[in-house]
Amino acid sequence: MATAERKGRLPREREDHFMRLPGAQVVSTRALLMVRENIRAAIEAKAMICIYGQTGRGKSLAVNTSLRELAPKLTRRIQFRARPSTRDLRHELFHALGLQGRPPSHAIEFDRVLRGALEETHVLVCDEAQWLSKMCFEYLRYLWDDTASDLTIVFTGGNGCFEMLQSEPMLESRVYVWQEIGRLSLDEVRTVIPAFHPVWADADPDLIALCDQEAAHGNFRAWAKITHHLVSGLRETGRAGVDEELLRWAYSKLPAQQTV
Ligand SMILES: Nc1ncnc2c1ncn2[C@@H]1O[C@H](COP(=O)(O)OP(=O)(O)OP(=O)(O)O)[C@@H](O)[C@H]1O
Ligand SMILES: [Mg+2]
Repeated sequence: MATAERKGRLPREREDHFMRLPGAQVVSTRALLMVRENIRAAIEAKAMICIYGQTGRGKSLAVNTSLRELAPKLTRRIQFRARPSTRDLRHELFHALGLQGRPPSHAIEFDRVLRGALEETHVLVCDEAQWLSKMCFEYLRYLWDDTASDLTIVFTGGNGCFEMLQSEPMLESRVYVWQEIGRLSLDEVRTVIPAFHPVWADADPDLIALCDQEAAHGNFRAWAKITHHLVSGLRETGRAGVDEELLRWAYSKLPAQQTV
């Protein structure tokens, strides 16, 4: 399926990985397992759910992985990279829901069309929800309240998403589950990183711990980025496996404040 046709659908699994890192595997972190259970419960309850936490902690990957299993055909996804108006939000929904033709020009008609299409959708993911204004959240609440369907809304977002939802009593009271994704603990890093990528499979556990303490700090995107550099380093130097020198070279590519 071409990218344009996939608009609004869950991305392919490979696209969830940082820079499509070849060889990377999805690993079942505690957070991912909990996201799956919480989304399952939210779908059963036809509820709203909020998965939040700092950048790079694995929110989008956990939500997409869970929904590929729980509702692959009935999930639609919208995502913003700048603050949308409610008009932008309506248009984004129109395209994500696969509606054909020209979007209606009158708001009442637009809302009727969107509500009709949402009756066919079970799960709507709003990723990067920290970009949504109060008005946009209100609009989604209106659609959710008003839709004669079994709609579940998953809000996923970084800094600001939680605060915005919490600050609106009408929304806050409708959110069924709140889940914060924290950083990976060192114990979890030791368990999941060897399964994450073949370069770590036989690596010295002390090197993995060193990398986490000095550079990755339990942040999954940092782990993926370091792994990407390591893969090229191994290829260019012809070394057989990870050693401390190569590892330090790989994480020297991260900004200095991260490598403390
Ligand atoms: N459970 C996992 N298994 C394997 N890789 C993971 C996992 N979780 C996260 N990653 C890696 O970390 C990267 C960042 O994760 P993700 O994009 O989900 O973070 P995020 O919390 O949504 O960040 P942002 O707030 O910036 O959108 C992914 O692209 C992937 O490479
Ligand atoms: Mg994300």
